[in-house]
Amino acid sequence: MNLHFASPDVGARTLEIVNEMKALEGPLLPILHEVQAEFGYIPQEALPVIARALNLSRAEVHGVVTFYHDYRDHPTGRHVLKLCRAEACQSMGGMALEDKVKKLLGIDFHQTTLDGAVTLEPVYCLGLCSTAPAAMLDGEVHGRLDDTAIAELVAGVRL
Ligand code: FES
Repeated sequence: MNLHFASPDVGARTLEIVNEMKALEGPLLPILHEVQAEFGYIPQEALPVIARALNLSRAEVHGVVTFYHDYRDHPTGRHVLKLCRAEACQSMGGMALEDKVKKLLGIDFHQTTLDGAVTLEPVYCLGLCSTAPAAMLDGEVHGRLDDTAIAELVAGVRL
């Protein structure tokens, strides 16, 4: 997993990204995607740069960042664990699994463990409904999770 950290160059790098992509049709989402790929999240300092270039208000850009689950407005931990909260997984014990993971990590969704090891995020269907409940760890999907499997997954990222 690549870790990205915001630097004093956030504004300058964001402006480069914006200039490369602002001619696209509907440029806001691809620009946000690229900024997140660059920094690992969407730094606050990037918002006014994007807003100014696209003739939007900062609040409008912030609204889009918070509306879409895939955008993060804070840095993540070294690992990102996404638990599926959609219907098939919920019907196969996803809620109990969610409670167990939160207890094991001591955090809620959208939070990162104090040691910076894991960020927990919800996701709404990973396309693994037939092997529910499912999760994704650092981009790798895991299905048919039970108490033991999820505990092993969590233990692996806390090392
Ligand atoms: S509902 Fe969870 S993977 Fe589809």
